[in-house]
Amino acid sequence: MRHFLSLKDFTADDLWPVLNRAKDLKATRRRGHRLSTLSGCVFAMLFEKPSTRTRVSFEVGIKELGGDVVFLSAQEVGLGKREAVKDVARTLSRYVYGVIIRTFDQAHLVEFAEYSSVPVVNALTDMFHPCQALSDVFTIWERFPILEDVRVGFIGDGNNVLHSLMFASAIFGFSLRVFTPRNHRPSPVVMRDAEAIGVKNWGRKTISLVDSLEGLGALDVVYTDVWVSMGQESQHDRKIKDFKGFQLTSDVVKRLGSPLVMHCLPAHRGEEIADDVIDGPNSIVFDQAENRLHVQKALLEWLWG
Ligand code: CP
Ligand code: NVA
Repeated sequence: MRHFLSLKDFTADDLWPVLNRAKDLKATRRRGHRLSTLSGCVFAMLFEKPSTRTRVSFEVGIKELGGDVVFLSAQEVGLGKREAVKDVARTLSRYVYGVIIRTFDQAHLVEFAEYSSVPVVNALTDMFHPCQALSDVFTIWERFPILEDVRVGFIGDGNNVLHSLMFASAIFGFSLRVFTPRNHRPSPVVMRDAEAIGVKNWGRKTISLVDSLEGLGALDVVYTDVWVSMGQESQHDRKIKDFKGFQLTSDVVKRLGSPLVMHCLPAHRGEEIADDVIDGPNSIVFDQAENRLHVQKALLEWLWG
């Protein structure tokens, strides 16, 4: 039995079959074919934070593969509050084939998985967003078939989305140059682990932290995400000040050599990204959103196959 808690736990050999299957599933869906690979399988989705893309893409994906879902919000379960994490894990394991969890603390997710007798998928924690990063690799691969030649830049907050993208870089070999305010750099532990995986796989550090826009050099892809993540609302005013000068504007995109523009969404327009960039010709943000569906279907088949 496999859990999907962080990309760190997987190799390119593990994950390429998922990406290849996602490509097939995308084509199959366009031809209007329906599948039954998860027929009779009911999943629990336990979401303690809001979601549009993750919730809908998982629910639709599971149903398109013949399965079904039970959705549980924070009010229903109260993970670690109404009931101990391990008791929820052992209870849900008796009912469902797998549990897809969006929560705050990565440690809660890890504890849940420890006590669960069915696979557990990380649908975002404060620390990681592996489903997003794996789908983003697929989106980049659609445009650039040789991943190890791709230059990706990330501008913004050293957050969950960046952390998973760092492991994706180390696993798949694309270079990732990261430009954040000094006090919002990614976790040093993630940096150390991702660098070590990159060196092991590719004989080089795939990730670099830079101190200026110029340090990013010419890019194939520029990625940004919100400055204020879910759960950080009380830090809004301070973070807006800290991130002054980090907005992805059309001028910045031009200075980076007009790369493709990625954003996991939801976007805070006018904060980390300007309207004319997210709506502009280089933006592939809705391809990213669509690909969550195909990649997660492949992931589910792989975990439960
Ligand atoms: N990108 C992403 O995970 O979006 P949601 O928060 O809407 O699920
Ligand atoms: N960093 C964002 C990602 C949302 C998909 C957050 O955690 O709110």
